[in-house]
Amino acid sequence: MTFERANIQSMSGYTPGEQPTENDVIKLNTNENPYPASRAVTEALASIQVEDLRRYPSPTAARFRQSAAAYHGLKDFNIIPTNGGDELLRLAITTFASEGDTVGIAVPGYSLYPVLTEIQGCKLLPVPLSDNWTLPGNFVSRVNDAGARLALLVNPHAPTGMLTSASELMEIAESFNGVLLVDEAYVDFVDPQYEYNLASAI
Ligand SMILES: Cc1ncc(COP(=O)(O)O)c(C=O)c1O
Repeated sequence: MTFERANIQSMSGYTPGEQPTENDVIKLNTNENPYPASRAVTEALASIQVEDLRRYPSPTAARFRQSAAAYHGLKDFNIIPTNGGDELLRLAITTFASEGDTVGIAVPGYSLYPVLTEIQGCKLLPVPLSDNWTLPGNFVSRVNDAGARLALLVNPHAPTGMLTSASELMEIAESFNGVLLVDEAYVDFVDPQYEYNLASAI
């Protein structure tokens, strides 16, 4: 006898991508940093007192949210601290998509999206990228026609590295009848001249 929900029983789970361990590989996948931490980060980590680990940190992460908001020119309530992007993705799916709802994604894409969608008991709408790996012009109509509640886009896209412009994303966000989540896990690889003002986009 098993007690898991039927969709959990029938799913195969997440298969992590290949993780090379050789020292001569500059590993850029899984959103890792190929370089050592900066001196400021190293000093901040070294200053942690083991004694302080007896307590959980602030449940609202108020100080972190204030600092991150000030750095990005946003408001505190725009910042949601999580253990990496995956936790935020899971939070977004459970917040915006009920069981049976449709979640739209561009494929090929991040292999965790279908897994999280399946865990939530949602339907997946995979919209294929164009032949040149850009988002197809009918992305919004595809997700709207399917009645999707949530669409997940990686920008710059993984695994293609293609960058969708801020103006195109704004158009998609405005025409989509659901929530558009732009996953910027690899945004640090974008040439700063393409940076746009996040605060004015919200
Ligand atoms: C597209 C994408 N989003 C989110 C993540 C999660 O990254 P992290 O948990 O390091 O924030 C990854 C990691 O592989 C990713 O490839």
